[in-house]
Amino acid sequence: MALWGGRFSQEADQRFKHFNDSLRFDYRLAEQDIIGSIAWSKALVTVNVISYDEQKKIEKALNELLLLVKQDPNQILQSDAEDIHSWVEQKLIEKIGDLGKKLHTGRSRNDQSTTDLKLWCKDQIPHLINAINHLRQLLITTAEQHQKAIMPGYTHLQRAQPITFAHWCLAYFEMLSRDVSRLEDTLQRLDVSPLGSGALAGTAYPMDREQLAHWLGFAQATNNSLDSVSDRDHILELLNNASIGMVHLSRFAEDLIIFNSGEANFVELSDRVTSGSSLMPQKKNPDALELIRGKVGRVAGALTGALMTFKGLPLAYNKDLQEDKEHLFDALDTWQECLDMATLVLEDIKINYTNCQEAAKQGYSNATELADYLVAKGIPFREAHHIVGEAVVDAIAKQKALEELSLEELQKFSPVIDNDVYPILSLESCLAKRCAKGGVSPLQVKSAIEVAKQQLS
Ligand code: ARG
Repeated sequence: MALWGGRFSQEADQRFKHFNDSLRFDYRLAEQDIIGSIAWSKALVTVNVISYDEQKKIEKALNELLLLVKQDPNQILQSDAEDIHSWVEQKLIEKIGDLGKKLHTGRSRNDQSTTDLKLWCKDQIPHLINAINHLRQLLITTAEQHQKAIMPGYTHLQRAQPITFAHWCLAYFEMLSRDVSRLEDTLQRLDVSPLGSGALAGTAYPMDREQLAHWLGFAQATNNSLDSVSDRDHILELLNNASIGMVHLSRFAEDLIIFNSGEANFVELSDRVTSGSSLMPQKKNPDALELIRGKVGRVAGALTGALMTFKGLPLAYNKDLQEDKEHLFDALDTWQECLDMATLVLEDIKINYTNCQEAAKQGYSNATELADYLVAKGIPFREAHHIVGEAVVDAIAKQKALEELSLEELQKFSPVIDNDVYPILSLESCLAKRCAKGGVSPLQVKSAIEVAKQQLS
């Protein structure tokens, strides 16, 4: 039976009921709804709506229910209750009869549903942070292992300057660190309890809402009842966090897809995270990475969808707000799954040092070094840039690397060039020179690994 039958003389059309009901997705809030209900029953004692003994009975029955839903949340889906709030109330009444009917005094599903979802978000954030930290830890270990893996760094997907695989790993470590800090930030702002805001104007029972908030583990109670029941900023923030996090994972995936291509052959992915082709027997496809790259679409879509749903809603509660949950559940599930997959892929990756190094040598990625060399010999940078450009054209025509040009050949472009140019053109020298904070020099990378470790511990 619905919670609101009294005013109605006709049954709801089945098609409308299906359209309107939210149990099929908000059943995931069962634990939070029960915990919120227990706290509410305690508040009802403080305003003399129920006695202490009655509260104990309610609490006992709700705790039994909690155990049941923890064992098998899917059983909830058997019911035709409208939403999780109706389901919990129904079950309570089945257990303890008329006393159960007192629980909803002074409360509305409007403050109840937003409280439940906030509690759910508070549970979820540590799981996400955990998954991100797993990947951060793995990035550090991988960086530590591959400090000597020299590979090309790119801009415009053109070989630009040599880097190491370790330095590449640490770039993603930084992105993921910001993802964690965004989640911590969001958690702080959403840690405010809306319970006791009633339907929109506040509860008619003079309870201590701060105490109620503390019982539920919130830092404090909200300030304004109208805002409380219609605020979904935290949903938008989480969807934004998820979208940015997924953008990071999709870039990680795309880099590795390129590194894994036949053209680059820098890395090999494990059989455990690749799949074959039904037609072409030779294929081993990076499906895990492609799915991570692809799924950013649905997460960013959820953010856009939620923004559009919430825009222009008049105060306070409107049923549109029920649309908050599916977006959020899907986006956070997807983010979590992609974090786990990215970790799985990186765990088993093999780096092909020879191919990485060969590619780093090609593409004139030491051209900047030659320009800096000329600058050190007193030539203004702009002029040096031009001279090296000409040398590169000559080297391309001869199908040689810069360091393969003889001294005679090099001196045609500038007489200041001497034999001491050759060590400077080596990959090792290119790396070692980037020795300011954040640069790719082996010493800087080593200390960046130490800093990263400290951040995680
Ligand atoms: N299932 C609803 C939701 O998620 C609960 C609130 C219903 N409130 C109402 N006044 N119809 O938003």
